[in-house]
Amino acid sequence: MNVEEIVGRAVSALRDGEQRLRRALEAAPAIVSGRAHEALAKAVGLELGRPLEACAIERFPDGETTVRVDEHMRGRDVFVVQPTAAPVGENILELALVADALHRVGAARVTALVPYFGFARQERRVHPGEPLGARVAADLVGCGRFARIVTVDLHAPAVEGFFGVPVEHLSAVPLLAEAVRQHLRRDTVVVSPDLGGAKLARAYAHELGRPVAIVHKTRLGGRHVEALDVTGEVKGRSCVIVDDMIATGGTIEAAVAALRERGAGDDVTVVATHAVLASNALEVLSRARITRLVTTDTLPAREGGAFERVHVPVAPLLADAVRRLAADRPAAELAAAAR
Ligand code: R5P
Repeated sequence: MNVEEIVGRAVSALRDGEQRLRRALEAAPAIVSGRAHEALAKAVGLELGRPLEACAIERFPDGETTVRVDEHMRGRDVFVVQPTAAPVGENILELALVADALHRVGAARVTALVPYFGFARQERRVHPGEPLGARVAADLVGCGRFARIVTVDLHAPAVEGFFGVPVEHLSAVPLLAEAVRQHLRRDTVVVSPDLGGAKLARAYAHELGRPVAIVHKTRLGGRHVEALDVTGEVKGRSCVIVDDMIATGGTIEAAVAALRERGAGDDVTVVATHAVLASNALEVLSRARITRLVTTDTLPAREGGAFERVHVPVAPLLADAVRRLAADRPAAELAAAAR
């Protein structure tokens, strides 16, 4: 073989390698972030060994949002990370705009990662004259023509039915239960702060091997909650109160007061997937004298409060879902992960 042939072979081997690398990169899932929670999108990317893809989002002086995604998203399997953090309406619209931009540059498939879907609490009308908020919000997300939605611990699992596309409903309960385990005492009881949360409390109790107590609450308004009674043995016991989310903190404050009235111990751990922590929720929880708050990072962090904070990252859970969905692995594997 002469020198020219050797050089020719080396060059074509390099070209083959370059093409294989390009194909591998194009086959890998692309992670795009809206502005609701870029830190989480980066964490998901880090788990997958992927940088965030370029996506410029700006607000025009007239208040309209404009989006520009990378043209190289053509043919890609794209995952858009955007929980419905405040400002909720704006973030939902932004999610639909990013999806539309991705469709228009020819992305092969677009999946929404909405780890917190906030309108889930409006899954039914409480009073005549109210809208079915969860349905409206699901329709707005649906404008993005996503292939599917991935979410974590919906307030009401039935909300899945409001979306016109498949929903992968993941659960952070095993991760949170694991984080709580080290704080358990021999007498710890798992408490649901309301009747609606009894099933969730049973799931935690099962993970932790503890009994369950239930606080019976009534909601008097957006911020005002009254605890009426407690079912189960709490006297002298440390309590782990579990909920899907904490918004104003009113539910937890009322539950803690009811537990203390019935002689519960001082050690109170509060566990929730979604730390909405709206307005003065951290003050409310401090006033309730809880010992610690254990939450995930489905929403941007709101620090503060006169109690211990434990943060449980959800990026590994989301990244795992992305891996399986990108590889078109059976939904059963995702469902198993959610249990
Ligand atoms: C209600 O059913 C939910 O599970 C939560 O308990 C509730 O939404 C928490 O809201 P807040 O913190 O405002 O009481």
